[in-house]
Amino acid sequence: MALFARLTTIIQCLTFVFAFPTGKSLQSRATLDEWIASESPVALSNLLANIGSTGEKSYGAAAGLVLASPSKANPDYYYSWTRDSALVFKTIVDQFIQTGDTNLQLKINDYITAQAKLQTVSNPSGGLSDGSGLGEPKFLPNGNAFTGDWGRPQRDGPALRATALIAYGRWLLDNDYSSAASDIVWPIVRNDLEYVAQYWNQTSFDLWEEIKGSSFFTTISQYRALIEGSAFAGSVGQSCANCDSQAPQLLCFMQTYWNGKYIDSNTNVEDGRSGKDVNSILASRHAFDPNAGCDDATFQPCSPKALANHKVVTDSFRPIYGINNGIAQGSAVAVGRYPEDVFFNGNPWYLATLAAAEQLYSALYQFNKVGSIEITSTSLSFWQAIDSSAATGTFSSSSSTFKDLMSALKAYADGFVAIVQKYTPSTGALAEEFDKSTGAPVSAVDLTWSYASFLTMAAARDNALPASWGASSANQVPSVCSAASATGAYSASTNTDWPDFQCSTADSVSVTFNVLASTSVGQDIYVVGSVAALGSWDISKAVLLHSDMYTDNQPLWYGSTTIAAGTELQYKYLRKGSDGSVAWESDPNRSYTVPSTCWTSASLSDTWR
Ligand SMILES: *[C@@H]1O[C@H](CO)[C@@H](O)[C@H](O)[C@H]1NC(C)=O
Ligand SMILES: *[C@@H]1O[C@H](CO)[C@@H](O)[C@H](O)[C@H]1NC(C)=O
Repeated sequence: MALFARLTTIIQCLTFVFAFPTGKSLQSRATLDEWIASESPVALSNLLANIGSTGEKSYGAAAGLVLASPSKANPDYYYSWTRDSALVFKTIVDQFIQTGDTNLQLKINDYITAQAKLQTVSNPSGGLSDGSGLGEPKFLPNGNAFTGDWGRPQRDGPALRATALIAYGRWLLDNDYSSAASDIVWPIVRNDLEYVAQYWNQTSFDLWEEIKGSSFFTTISQYRALIEGSAFAGSVGQSCANCDSQAPQLLCFMQTYWNGKYIDSNTNVEDGRSGKDVNSILASRHAFDPNAGCDDATFQPCSPKALANHKVVTDSFRPIYGINNGIAQGSAVAVGRYPEDVFFNGNPWYLATLAAAEQLYSALYQFNKVGSIEITSTSLSFWQAIDSSAATGTFSSSSSTFKDLMSALKAYADGFVAIVQKYTPSTGALAEEFDKSTGAPVSAVDLTWSYASFLTMAAARDNALPASWGASSANQVPSVCSAASATGAYSASTNTDWPDFQCSTADSVSVTFNVLASTSVGQDIYVVGSVAALGSWDISKAVLLHSDMYTDNQPLWYGSTTIAAGTELQYKYLRKGSDGSVAWESDPNRSYTVPSTCWTSASLSDTWR
């Protein structure tokens, strides 16, 4: 019976697959599936490597703090941004909910504990008493304030953090940890919601940290936070009066970014730009609600406005990147931030190209759920680009037109991922950008947000859905927009005493050895020790450490190896010269016991003796 059912499914799948127009795309699709399957664990492990304190590339980062990238120079991203961290942790929370991986949960708890403290750190944007300090964009890896010049404030951070925490808070409520939701998570979320309600109608630096005005991504993130924040407040026996009073005005303001053809991502600023910006595609993906229809008011991924905007924004990169040369309309291209971008000469970004795919995968889900595709005069040009016979009208899921449009949309979405696949090195490492002429990785290495974008794209492609944020009952736009604000009340969140969650003790632990050891060119640092993973004191089997995070100020050598939990071991660092010479650290041998806890990673911070 089970076998028969499976055979039927296989036959159905085959029928579906053969309905695609050409055998060629069938073949490349299989390859893309394989690549996504192999890249997924790489993306997750490289993402976790950038999170303190046990991540392999997180030396000096406090527990739960996310580094934007291990890159320390050109560009220096060795900081913890509130925005990037929240987007990364929203991804981790959703992965945890899907997989039940308790090692992710340990990181989530660390992140939330760290945010409670960060909210109280006075910084150049201000402090907690009037909420102003919550708009600070980035902190040092150890959680201290960054006091240099920067584009501040950035008002999307608190909203995005609230969304990440609420996603976990819902899980806590659903799993009988309601006091953790109300006593640990809610007080932090509450400060962030009060901030949004108080400051949403003031200008802010955009997500690219370049211009101070009103940013669509910021506004939509703020709106979503207030809507789900109010509902979350209710579910922990509280209320958010300021969320309720301000949210309608945010929704009203959100509509004003639409200029009739596309979303003008930056307003209230004379920036001399077109306003075509992947800001708006990232915003639409952030607004995705699996329970919503193709609603223009909340810019759902399948809404006519969001689709029209997708075409205008992605088209803006067709003529300006060499690697897009010769790619026809209706086929996917490499996508950057905005066409006028000059950062590193203006290149496509992995996270931008992946977001272009993700919006379309979410739209596919929504069209299936709604049971029809409505092509309006607004979205017609989007559809005609991918299917020349497209015309306005409503096409129900039983029609052949629906099936044709859906196949074209899926192939188009896959095309964006195939571009990323093409320009990802075989190691699976995702930098920030890839060169517009050669496709080679550019700028910051191992950008944490790039990995998160890959994971959320893959989840959307798999219909692994995030929870609803309530969009379908929050789409009534007031007839008149007005400037508004509600002064918030802020207080430090002091309870970070997590309950004992069920988790199984790790069998083996990935131990990262960090050692500060000044070296000259040609010299390498190794770790050797009493267990097989450390070469059993055999110099020829010593573990070579990496120097890619080495700077003169912080001569870091690091590397990780997996060792059984509870192992007691001895180790030492040694230096090898290019002439084969070996220098040992001074005595005595170092001792270490690999922790026997639920954590599957641990790290050591040593200094060469
Ligand atoms: C404040 O809200 C009003 C009404 O929506 C809007 O016209 C104005 O541009 C907003 N200003 C900022 C900076 O958000
Ligand atoms: C360090 O360990 C090695 C291997 O067991 C041993 O030969 C050596 O004597 C030890 N050094 C000291 C100072 O104990």
